[in-house]
Amino acid sequence: MNKTMKAETAVSVPTKTDNARRVETLLAHMSLEEKVAQLAQISGAPWNEGPDPEEIIRERGIGSILWLNDTKRFNELQKIAIEESPSGIPILFALDVIHGYRTIFPLPLAMAASWDPVVAEQAQAVAAKEARAAGIHWTFGPMLDIARDARWGRIVEGAGEDPYLGAAMAAAQVRGFQGEDLADPERVLACAKHFAGYGAADGGRDYDPVYLPETELRNVYFPPFQAAVKAGVGTFMSAYMDLNNVPANSNRWLLRDVLREEWGFAGFVVSDAFGVGSLVVQGHARDRQDAALRSLKAGLNMDMASSAYLENLAGLVEDGSLTMGEIDDMVRPILALKAEMGLFEHPYVDETLLDRVVARPEHRQAARRAAQRAMVLLRNEGGLLPLAKGQQNIAVIGPLADSMEATEGSWMVFGHKSAAVTVLQGIRAKLPGATIAYAPGPEIHRDIPHPFGEFDMTEKKPIQTPEDAEAAFQTAVKTAQNADLVIMVLGENADMAGEFASRGSLDLPGRQEELLKAVSALGKPVVLVLLNGRPLSINWAADHVPAILEAWEPGTEGGNAVADILFGDVNPGGKLPVTFPRSGGHAPLYYARTLTHLPEDSPRYYSRYWDSPTTPLYPFGYGLSYTTFAIDNLKLSAAKIKVGQAVTVTADVSNTGSVAGDEVVQLYIHQKWGSDSRPRRELKGFERVTLQPGEVKTVSFSLGPDELGYWSTNAGRWIQEAAPFDIWVGSDSLATCHAALEVVE
Ligand code: NOJ
Repeated sequence: MNKTMKAETAVSVPTKTDNARRVETLLAHMSLEEKVAQLAQISGAPWNEGPDPEEIIRERGIGSILWLNDTKRFNELQKIAIEESPSGIPILFALDVIHGYRTIFPLPLAMAASWDPVVAEQAQAVAAKEARAAGIHWTFGPMLDIARDARWGRIVEGAGEDPYLGAAMAAAQVRGFQGEDLADPERVLACAKHFAGYGAADGGRDYDPVYLPETELRNVYFPPFQAAVKAGVGTFMSAYMDLNNVPANSNRWLLRDVLREEWGFAGFVVSDAFGVGSLVVQGHARDRQDAALRSLKAGLNMDMASSAYLENLAGLVEDGSLTMGEIDDMVRPILALKAEMGLFEHPYVDETLLDRVVARPEHRQAARRAAQRAMVLLRNEGGLLPLAKGQQNIAVIGPLADSMEATEGSWMVFGHKSAAVTVLQGIRAKLPGATIAYAPGPEIHRDIPHPFGEFDMTEKKPIQTPEDAEAAFQTAVKTAQNADLVIMVLGENADMAGEFASRGSLDLPGRQEELLKAVSALGKPVVLVLLNGRPLSINWAADHVPAILEAWEPGTEGGNAVADILFGDVNPGGKLPVTFPRSGGHAPLYYARTLTHLPEDSPRYYSRYWDSPTTPLYPFGYGLSYTTFAIDNLKLSAAKIKVGQAVTVTADVSNTGSVAGDEVVQLYIHQKWGSDSRPRRELKGFERVTLQPGEVKTVSFSLGPDELGYWSTNAGRWIQEAAPFDIWVGSDSLATCHAALEVVE
């Protein structure tokens, strides 16, 4: 590190007024070419096919660089920006740090299953610390897309199907990444993505068009994004797809009317990768120049990786299509955030810091605790779990049992070397004296390979032949036969959920179910541990396997956390943040549908399908424990309130079993009639509580205009109506503890 490369330390940074003045002074002196460069984010990846970063930075600086994960290189490029570019403006280095940098936490869907925003905040704070120590300033997260279609691969990156839970997780993650103050050198700038509606892709097919009426957008898809704005998120990313036939990357209504004018967002918006250039392919822009013009006019500040801004914006100002004022307005928030982060004073990273930061034992401890809290017990017939630690002869079976990739899941930073504890390793560490045999069974793989596989430089294993798969199958059954207890670890590989990872079926891929049936037929006790990033239609297992633990993609400490739960050191308390449908053909399936003229719980209920029930395999909010709980004594502070007033809802939750455990008390409402039909149930409050055996706690929620109002199609605005409401509290979305509330004029 040379003299100019001073480490980022907690020193005083300029005031807001100093920063604003600095930004205006810069804007007054920068050339048009320099300004345009601030609106560009270019690739720093080794496979980069775009412009040469060094050349551009030297000539006119650059707004941001992405897809680079190399601390030394960050300093080299920053040095060129600071010392050689005309205005010496620091570069923002950006990377997808989704669920950890080196210490990997459960994927966001799993974190939502904790129903514990504090643990989500802590996880992203650790991710921020590690990423920032590596020299990364800006992460492309949190991903806030509501997803109600389990076929959509990116369901794993968000908080699931519910706007209320999604909003709580959104705000928590923003706080975790950014902290209280953007000048904090242990935090990173967050990015709320993908604005908006991406999760509702037609048929769950990634990137396909989205048709969402305003009522769905405002009541369901927007709340997590608005929560992120309220939590102070610095940046937004626009989505790829067409929203109601207008590409989100150049959607003026989204980017200007809603985001800035209604919500008062003052940060900047980046496109999704290549999104500006893609407007031509999408049939929206005539050519790349037209694409740049449309996006900038729509309010998109930064072009991620397509270079359409770099190539065209200056020309568009010169020919009068854009004014310098319009360019300045787009550049201003980018410079402001760089200033607020203290990058002008501290542009470099201490190249020795990362090793010290990632070695902190508390990071691994936090990852283990997060994984424990995220896991959901789906079935436990006859109290098979927890297992006795005296178990001596165990078979651990399945293609994911010793897979570090499946344990950590998708979305690793470039160059990540897994240090994950697999389930097999976790069990071995828990029972050092026991005989633990292992057989993977047949491998699983995607039918159509992942396109990102080409960026992965590691040598690819050839796909197992059917003969080898059969031999592996037989070995697995034999291994199970020799044991007293079988733990099967099944699910999906890391590349089966995430971007480019949608699927039509939700069944266990490959021969896993066949193996599960063959092993179950041996008559031994079988525990199924699922590693996966989306709901799976495990119908057979749900009826025949006595114990099922949904472990998701649990991260670096995942295997230890699974062992902690299986052997009773931790009592599971997670709850599903998504409905589990019985079939991929049932998607999208979610709890908050409206009633229809023939509600499913009416006496005349017939399944909407003739070949299977339409009820979920597991409902939203569901999850068991090693103890039992009762939720009762539901009380309202008033049975009748006026529009605009709030009511306090209380209920008692008691641990009626014999061990300590966690219950997530959930509050649901239903407005019985009004201007629009309202969902049969909507989550409007939750609290995860820990209770000792016999202990009782009273939980309390408030229902006011924010919870009782909604955006109405008929009124064309937010309204709150005088109407009767059903209120339920309970342990999942089928809660039965009921009270009535009357809202009057
Ligand atoms: C495309 C993805 O949609 C987005 O989520 C990600 O942040 C960018 N690529 C950058 O890697």
